[in-house]
Amino acid sequence: MRVVLYTGKGGVGKTTTSAAHAAWAASRGVRTLVASADSAHSLGDVLGCELGPEPTTVDSTGQLDAVEIDARAETERHWGAIRDYLVALFRHQGIEELVADELALMPGAEELTTLLAVEARSREAGDAEYDLVIVDCAPTDVALRMLTLPEVARGSMRLLLRVQRAVAGVVTPLARSVVGFPLPGSEVFHDAEEVLYRRFGRLLEWVQAESTTTRLVVTAERMVIDEAARTWTDLSLFGLHCDAVVMNRLLPDAAAEEPFFREWLEVQAERRREVESGFAPLPLLPAPLGDDEVVGAEALAAHGALVFGETDPRARLCEAQATRFVRDGEAVEAWLPLPQARPDELDVAKLDERLILTLGSRRRAIPLPRHVARLDLVAARLREGKLRVRFAPYGGAEAS
Ligand SMILES: Nc1ncnc2c1ncn2[C@@H]1O[C@H](COP(=O)(O)OP(=O)(O)OP(=O)(O)O)[C@@H](O)[C@H]1O
Ligand SMILES: [Mg+2]
Repeated sequence: MRVVLYTGKGGVGKTTTSAAHAAWAASRGVRTLVASADSAHSLGDVLGCELGPEPTTVDSTGQLDAVEIDARAETERHWGAIRDYLVALFRHQGIEELVADELALMPGAEELTTLLAVEARSREAGDAEYDLVIVDCAPTDVALRMLTLPEVARGSMRLLLRVQRAVAGVVTPLARSVVGFPLPGSEVFHDAEEVLYRRFGRLLEWVQAESTTTRLVVTAERMVIDEAARTWTDLSLFGLHCDAVVMNRLLPDAAAEEPFFREWLEVQAERRREVESGFAPLPLLPAPLGDDEVVGAEALAAHGALVFGETDPRARLCEAQATRFVRDGEAVEAWLPLPQARPDELDVAKLDERLILTLGSRRRAIPLPRHVARLDLVAARLREGKLRVRFAPYGGAEAS
């Protein structure tokens, strides 16, 4: 099953582009599910119908289903026991119930559960029901948190679990009452383990799979493009593949007949060149500004045809490389694409069996294959958007 996630700055046209891709794919006979992972749902408005948490068929060909996830309900379902424990803990410390409730919501949990739900829905449906799943993500900051959180959260939860297990192992029920604060019960362990090992693991596999790509939606505006560039770097840092940039709301050439629009067109052409060179090798897909809002499956399919042309709706438009390990004699090199990252904001280290990459305020711990984990990190070089990290046997003469 092919999965395409659309993200970009607020208001650039993510929902329109996701729905257009989906409607166009369905019109070409591809069984498609389009899902809104943005809590401010507007997918139903764009498709011109009422949507709910279960997939509904929304076009006349019967090939297009759409779904809007209820983030609150999903969060309650998946984080329930963990949250109840945190609320009890906070309240015990004298924090008011309402505040404790808010605190226990955990930043990012809602976005994360939304994505978990989309993944679960498409897995339940399986390859038998859909060839293509399109996800309309929230604006970039939220979407990034959502896409990178599984890995980050997995790390911190693993630590939390270890501590909790150690405590639970030595503390008897009697002792619990004198510790001074409530200790997590077995249902918390159960939930944490379920979330940690099974669901996050599956979600990570899903977003990092070769068959899953993210597309960045931009308009011809500098701030929008700059944000997309940062998103591209961050997504690459977390092993997610990007395969295209959609430039939305482009004025037609005919607008040049009006002097007022001539300058706009020049700026637009300039931004287009910037994106073409700055985001290479990602292809740029131009999307025209419609003379009206693009609403309803038919109009969306027509808009999709203009944007995606004759390509296969499931095609991966750029074979962006993920992390690769390349053997060089006794040494091994890890190659990672980090488009647009600057050397001065990057820090590379090896800790136990992990490669720790810190890029500005973001950090990723990449588990190393066993044969690489035994080696020493001897050099790291960032050039033309690619990071090369060299590992060699302990005491090797190559340290630099
Ligand atoms: N190519 C286009 N031509 C005409 N109107 C468009 C086009 N793209 C988007 N719009 C309109 O612009 C508005 C915002 O688009 P859309 O909702 O798709 O953006 P979004 O990025 O999903 O926004 P949000 O960040 O709020 O989710 C909508 O009214 C939509 O109909
Ligand atoms: Mg939207």
